[in-house]
Amino acid sequence: MVMKKCRLAVFASGSGSNYEAIAEACRDGRIDAEVVLLVCDKPGAKVLERAQRFGTESFVFNPKDYESKAAYETLLVHMLEERKVDYICLAGYMRIVGPVLLGSFEQRIVNIHPSLLPSFKGAHAIQDAVDYGVKIFGVTTHFVDETLDGGRIIDQGAIVYEGNDIEELTNLIHKIEHNLYVKSINKLINKKF
Ligand code: GAR
Repeated sequence: MVMKKCRLAVFASGSGSNYEAIAEACRDGRIDAEVVLLVCDKPGAKVLERAQRFGTESFVFNPKDYESKAAYETLLVHMLEERKVDYICLAGYMRIVGPVLLGSFEQRIVNIHPSLLPSFKGAHAIQDAVDYGVKIFGVTTHFVDETLDGGRIIDQGAIVYEGNDIEELTNLIHKIEHNLYVKSINKLINKKF
């Protein structure tokens, strides 16, 4: 019997380095899955160039063109179901997921966040942690619920950083993210969680 490969959709709003880490791992066989759709809510975002390079179909939309979150999420659910998507990986998707998407993909939406949750939720986690004087920084992967960066934790990674170069710190955190997301997706698709 031929086993069907797991089908992933990645949602991103920005640069897309996490999308690329996932797409590369799928291509190289480090994740036994394929990225079948990239969803982006920011026309012109750099992640779209990356998706093109990897040959991933992308869907770009502007939330302002829809009358509500429910309206664009209904369209997204339709697209995801049509492509038989098993899991949604949020990778810098800077938007709260609403009940329509959550209801259709229960326990099948995961996110990565650049802090040791539940500390420093939100869009500026690294800067917020630096401002607070944090010395142990980290990354969290978690299931997504209806709250900002909320939901049951899957994995965490941490580093001690006592320097004051935010760019260097951000790069170190991104490296951890790229490895951690691959590990967590593997857990998910192999039902080891
Ligand atoms: C990543 O650091 C991710 O953890 C963060 O956005 C960045 C996207 O980078 N997500 C959040 O802050 C979610 N609240 P990327 O576009 O290079 O993957």
